[in-house]
Amino acid sequence: MTKTKIGIIGGSGVYEIDGLKNATWQNIESPWGAPSDHVLTGVLDDIEMVFLPRHGRGHVHSPSTVPYRANIDVLKRIGVTDIISVSACGSFREDMAPGHFVIIDQFIDRTIAREKSFFGTGCVAHVSVAHPTCPRLGDVCETAAKIAGITIHKGGTYLAMEGPQFSTLAESKMYRENWGCDVIGMTNMPEAKLAREAEICYASVAMITDYDSWHPDHGAVDINQIITTLRGNSENARSLIKQLPALLDHIRTPCPHNCDRALDHAIMTKPES
Ligand code: ADE
Repeated sequence: MTKTKIGIIGGSGVYEIDGLKNATWQNIESPWGAPSDHVLTGVLDDIEMVFLPRHGRGHVHSPSTVPYRANIDVLKRIGVTDIISVSACGSFREDMAPGHFVIIDQFIDRTIAREKSFFGTGCVAHVSVAHPTCPRLGDVCETAAKIAGITIHKGGTYLAMEGPQFSTLAESKMYRENWGCDVIGMTNMPEAKLAREAEICYASVAMITDYDSWHPDHGAVDINQIITTLRGNSENARSLIKQLPALLDHIRTPCPHNCDRALDHAIMTKPES
């Protein structure tokens, strides 16, 4: 019998969970190196929660230097069954406005300078990420957002860029007009791929802060505007998280989409003896 344990990976502006009982910061070690920070464990309305600030307290890791493998590994080690990723993003769509949230269901991974797999030395595995997020967990996040009064868009393609600079106007137009992307951010990859390799369900709640650089009425990305919108977004994220326990079962049933059995269907070679 597996108990539900929710891992929240908090992005810029999301550094805590309101109302967490028995809240304790714990140091979990990983053979993949040091994670971004200690994890905050506790109970929210009878559901066990684990919070990990993606950039570390004090925002010490840039999107390129976040230790993604160690982060996913420590969440796995502490028994997290489902990860909800919360992160800031820019929007490529007029109707997806700053302040709105999007439940991501697809990614285009344009990151180039990050370790992307737990496999490759000794043991090779190729997992499917055709459907990189968990629809069951995404549905829970959508319902939680609606109850919290947040404007939520269900489904969206997230362009994961390396950064740290924002996109050029030509890139922004290409992602929007030619590639059909809905939002852009710097942190969901390789996080989502690693969660799948670790057989943990993963949902991404992307919080829109800006219109990237394509929008004729908004011009270039303005960091001051991002920070202002981020404040409201992080309050909304905390309200969304508060709604989650009432929507989750205490006993975790197998994922109907097989996210938690990804390696059953992976092409794998035997580990070296
Ligand atoms: N995070 C927030 N806004 C962004 C943007 N426009 N591009 C990349 N990452 C972002």
